[in-house]
Amino acid sequence: MNNYAVEARQLTRVFGDKTAVSDLSFQVAEGEFFGFLGPNGAGKSTTINMLVGLLRPTAGTALIDGINLWENPLEAKRRLGVLPEGMQLYQRLTAREFIQFSGTMYGVTRDEVNRRSEELLELLDLTDAADKLIVDYSHGMRKKTALAAAIIHSPRVLFLDEPFEGVDAISGRIIRDVLQQLRQSGTTIFFSSHILEVVERLCTRLAVIANGRLVAEGTLEELRAQAQTGDNTSLEELFLKAVGAKDEGLGDSKLSWLNS
Ligand SMILES: Nc1ncnc2c1ncn2[C@@H]1O[C@H](COP(=O)(O)OP(=O)(O)O)[C@@H](O)[C@H]1O
Ligand SMILES: [Mg+2]
Repeated sequence: MNNYAVEARQLTRVFGDKTAVSDLSFQVAEGEFFGFLGPNGAGKSTTINMLVGLLRPTAGTALIDGINLWENPLEAKRRLGVLPEGMQLYQRLTAREFIQFSGTMYGVTRDEVNRRSEELLELLDLTDAADKLIVDYSHGMRKKTALAAAIIHSPRVLFLDEPFEGVDAISGRIIRDVLQQLRQSGTTIFFSSHILEVVERLCTRLAVIANGRLVAEGTLEELRAQAQTGDNTSLEELFLKAVGAKDEGLGDSKLSWLNS
């Protein structure tokens, strides 16, 4: 079978009179490290939540490994892991308990849960904190705990919503290294970010959305070709162009009460 790892088919989500995501279609091949970019409020989290089964689409559907998530949710969810934006962790568990709980929920055997959770705690530098309650963790420690819980069943596709948001350089580095390892083992990675430098460094291909619609898709080289800019155009410039931001930044606009 030659299925896509992730396929969005005309995904649409309406909240009241606001269309957060509109007729969004794209495919991600197996083994890709796919970046999903867009300004705040563009519809990234809404899209990810519809791709992983956390939010029901108003129209359209999502396929994981060729399996229709909204028709066959258990079969599809077995194959994916997700680090959601809000990271709903059980605050009264320790990291070790939470990671083990997640593995058990995904049907990993007890021995394997124990072995993998110890390895994950070690790799993510959480061993010292492993027996403290999550409620007392820093933001970076929570992200790492949530990441461990998202990968303990070795998903074929991993979704991460802003994994580097609010994370310090040390934790960010660890998370990046884990993602690279997963990728080398064949895991497909789909992550949203507005930190362009990280995307530029890691992604094999990317999509840009603005106002709930796809505005660009391809490799960095393809985006440069589409935008008809030079080979050295930074992702930031391509991004600003794709989402239709003003080229000149603030231009001549100044805060009237600042002395020049
Ligand atoms: N549960 C909700 N109820 C109403 N509006 C929502 C809800 N979730 C998201 N939105 C709106 O949908 C749009 C897209 O939001 P979101 O997907 O969170 O964007 P992003 O993750 O790209 O910042 C925003 O305008 C947001 O206010
Ligand atoms: Mg978001």
